[in-house]
Amino acid sequence: MVILSPSILASDFTILGEQMKQVEAGGNDYFHFDVMDGMFVPNISFGIPVLVSVRKNTKKILDVHLMVEAPERYIDKFIDAGADIITVHQEACKPLRETVEHIHERGKKAGIAIKPGTQIDVLDEFFGLADMFLVMTVEPGFGGQKYMDICTEKIKMLRTRLNDRGFDTDIQVDGGITRDNVEIPISAGANVIVMGSSIFKGSITDNTKYFSELFKKYN
Ligand code: DX5
Ligand code: ZN
Repeated sequence: MVILSPSILASDFTILGEQMKQVEAGGNDYFHFDVMDGMFVPNISFGIPVLVSVRKNTKKILDVHLMVEAPERYIDKFIDAGADIITVHQEACKPLRETVEHIHERGKKAGIAIKPGTQIDVLDEFFGLADMFLVMTVEPGFGGQKYMDICTEKIKMLRTRLNDRGFDTDIQVDGGITRDNVEIPISAGANVIVMGSSIFKGSITDNTKYFSELFKKYN
C-alpha cells in the first residue's frame, strides 16, 4: 500500500485548519508534522502547542518528524499532544534503541530517519524493531528543495535488504517529491510519501486527489 502524508510545513498557518480540510477532501492517509529545533537543522518550525491544535482538527494519523537534537527528551510530550508515529533521526538520538522501545511502550509507532549523507547500514540493527525507516531525499530543514537523485539507490538497497531478511517495514521518503518524480522512489521501494509544496502550492484538494488516485494503482 502506498501512503500519502502531506507535510503541513508548506501550508498557510493563518488558515491551517481550512487547508487541512482541503487536503482531507482529496484523500490523504496521514499528516506529516515537521518539527525543527534550529540545532539539528538550521531552521525552526513549530512544536507541541501546534500539534495539540492539529490533533483537535483531524482524525488522520499524525506522522511527526522530529528534526531535533536529543529528541528522547520530548517523546512523551509529543505523544501526549497527539502523535501517532514519531520519527527520530539516527544522527540526533544517542539512546536510539531505548527511544524506539519507549515509543512502543506508549503504544505508538516508531520511525528512524537518516539524512542523505548517512548510510543505510546504521539501520540494520533496527530491522524488526522500527515500524518505518525515513530516507530523506533532501537535506532536512526546509520545504521546497530539489529531490536528490543519489537517494534513490539508498531506497532500493534498503528495500532489498529488508526483503532479503523477511521484513516489510514501511520506507518513507521526504523532500522534493513532485508529480514528475514521485514514481521514482515508489519504484525503488518507498511506500510512505511525504509532500509539502506539491500538495499546498496550487489547488490543495486537486493535488491531493491526483496523488491519492495515482497511489491506488500500487495498492
Ligand atoms: C524537510 C521536511 C520535509 C519537507 C517536505 O526537512 O522534513 O517534510 O517539509 O517539503 P517538500 O515536499 O516541499 O520538499
Ligand atoms: Zn519531514
